[in-house]
Amino acid sequence: MLKEIHEQPTALAQTLQGRVTNGDEVTFDDFAPGAFAGVTDVQFVACGTSYHAALYATQFLASRGVRAQAFRAGEYATSPAPVKSDTLVVGVTQSGETADTLSSLRSAHSRGARTLAVTNVVGSTAAREADDSLFIRAGPEIGVAATKTFSSQIASLALLGERIIRDRTGLASDGVSELLESLESLDRDVRRVIDESRAEEIATAYLDEQSYFFIGRDIAHPVALEGALKFKEITYEHAEGFAAGELKHGPLALVTPETPVFAVFTGSHDEQTLSNVQQVQARGAPVIAIASEEHDAAIETADEALTYPDATAEVAAILANVQLQLVAYHVADHLGRAIDKPRNLAKSVTVK
Ligand code: AGP
Repeated sequence: MLKEIHEQPTALAQTLQGRVTNGDEVTFDDFAPGAFAGVTDVQFVACGTSYHAALYATQFLASRGVRAQAFRAGEYATSPAPVKSDTLVVGVTQSGETADTLSSLRSAHSRGARTLAVTNVVGSTAAREADDSLFIRAGPEIGVAATKTFSSQIASLALLGERIIRDRTGLASDGVSELLESLESLDRDVRRVIDESRAEEIATAYLDEQSYFFIGRDIAHPVALEGALKFKEITYEHAEGFAAGELKHGPLALVTPETPVFAVFTGSHDEQTLSNVQQVQARGAPVIAIASEEHDAAIETADEALTYPDATAEVAAILANVQLQLVAYHVADHLGRAIDKPRNLAKSVTVK
């Protein structure tokens, strides 16, 4: 896992190679010009970490005016959402072999929708069966915990999102220049996060707690969910991710000085997350902010901070997630867990 965390700058460079140019153009020749012009709505289906990438993609599109939804493939396979012939159903699956995701894609296809597989494995079942494929080009991932493939999924889905918008409207989305600028330096910025991270120090300070919470809103929400999944998967400690605004609707009852809260800031609606931070601090919980190094308010309000180079929110999500991967890794390492082969889990889940 640690090796694959360190491979992320290379993986991301491969993912983006030839797909991004300077200025406001996404060079994304994987699909013919106008390939998505007729798409009216997008449904993402996926499991686990890939579902979090799907949620990210949904936020990305919905915030730019495209109707998009993310579904857990295990649910969609048995309770599918209605589709039309101009619905694009995107299966996000690193392996391309996850049974529930394949079933969901088959169900969508049989009901007349157009299907697309976003996968890391050329020749996988998803790639062979879907109408189209988008390869994330992260390189082989061996560790059960998905790390570099999540980063590459997100980067690929941001580009796909831009292409869908461009094909539908003939125009790039607002903010495309900032997105492309942040993507241009992404591999170097991820390298800096890895080289300068204080995650091990934070991990050792909070080793023996009752529970670990992860909060974020907007594009930081899937990052919080992914941070919690990675944490529970390899540390075997209880961890939960929440939409920050949901805390006061129930989870706040669990907050004590023994529940460290990792609060993810990406620059989108951060003031509201800051007020959620103050709510948990008032109950004694220590807060670790994951924030841009330029985000003084988050850094000063939180008890600790893990920072990343400033970037546009969609790219900040990738950088923040790398810090959370490192926290999970170091906690698991200090607890002596079998990080590369966590108990009860398989790399690819080929049964329903
Ligand atoms: C996460 O670390 C896991 N490996 C798991 O949640 C995984 O993302 C899920 O099983 C889906 O796998 P896929 O991307 O190969 O479809």
